[in-house]
Amino acid sequence: MPKPVTLITGASSGLGAEFARQCARRGDEILLVARRQDRLEKLAAELGGKAHVLVADLATTGASARLLSEIERRGFSVEILINNAGFGLAGTFAELPLERQSEMIDLNIKALTELTHLVLPGMIARRSGGILNIASTGAFQAGPGFGVYFATKAYVLSFTEALHQELKGSGVRVSALCPGPTRTEFGAVAGARGERFDRLAAGAGGVVSAGLKGLEANRAVAIPGLTNKISAQSNRFLPRALVRRIVAALKL
Ligand SMILES: NC(=O)c1ccc[n+]([C@@H]2O[C@H](COP(=O)([O-])OP(=O)(O)OC[C@H]3O[C@@H](n4cnc5c(N)ncnc54)[C@H](OP(=O)(O)O)[C@@H]3O)[C@@H](O)[C@H]2O)c1
Repeated sequence: MPKPVTLITGASSGLGAEFARQCARRGDEILLVARRQDRLEKLAAELGGKAHVLVADLATTGASARLLSEIERRGFSVEILINNAGFGLAGTFAELPLERQSEMIDLNIKALTELTHLVLPGMIARRSGGILNIASTGAFQAGPGFGVYFATKAYVLSFTEALHQELKGSGVRVSALCPGPTRTEFGAVAGARGERFDRLAAGAGGVVSAGLKGLEANRAVAIPGLTNKISAQSNRFLPRALVRRIVAALKL
């Protein structure tokens, strides 16, 4: 019998590493995926024998399928998938390199979609399992100055909500976690203007536990933190033109 595991993408830092720590604490067998092998091995050593390392660049063509074949070859079946790997880029669309923005779409959208499609048949057949997709509060509105990133997260939220509904009654739980700014390596990778981002940022621990609780309860959408909840909801009542101007003025 294949061993059930929790697969965490982007586990070498930030939210992914925190997901690994919290899932390890509750006793999950864990697969840690990212590009930086040294980081993953250090984390696996910290977590003990139940954490395993798989190095993959998920933005490359065919990476998701190769990863799933390797997981099967090692005798595991994915019980929980945490689609967490992702990055943002601060700057205007015209000025940012197209290559990096395409890479962002390949990771934040394509790899997440492919991994979900690859693990779902097994989960549906077993009538158990869970998929937690990491979106963002950026999913709720357009993001001038972070345009493609916010758009990728709008995709993640929309896709996840649809999947949640499609899988009602199947035994498979599907949730989107929508964090606001959180202290990880995200800001540095994105080239966000440090000071404002840092001032708004929450700790990773609470964000991750909100995500795991949301999945456990099969909530379609989990938004950690009161300010984030209010800002996500307020978008429904404010004129879109005003919301666009507010986000642009934040100069994230
Ligand atoms: N922090 C925030 O403010 C915030 C807010 C809302 C949503 N989020 C979302 O939360 C998720 C986690 O981000 P984070 O904040 O924890 O940022 P982070 O600390 O920069 O972590 C990102 C993770 O993604 C991995 N990754 C990047 N490119 C990859 C690739 N091509 N293939 C495989 N793995 C890759 C990185 O590992 P390697 O570099 O080793 O590959 C790293 O482990 C992302 O989806 C992000 O969009 C973050």
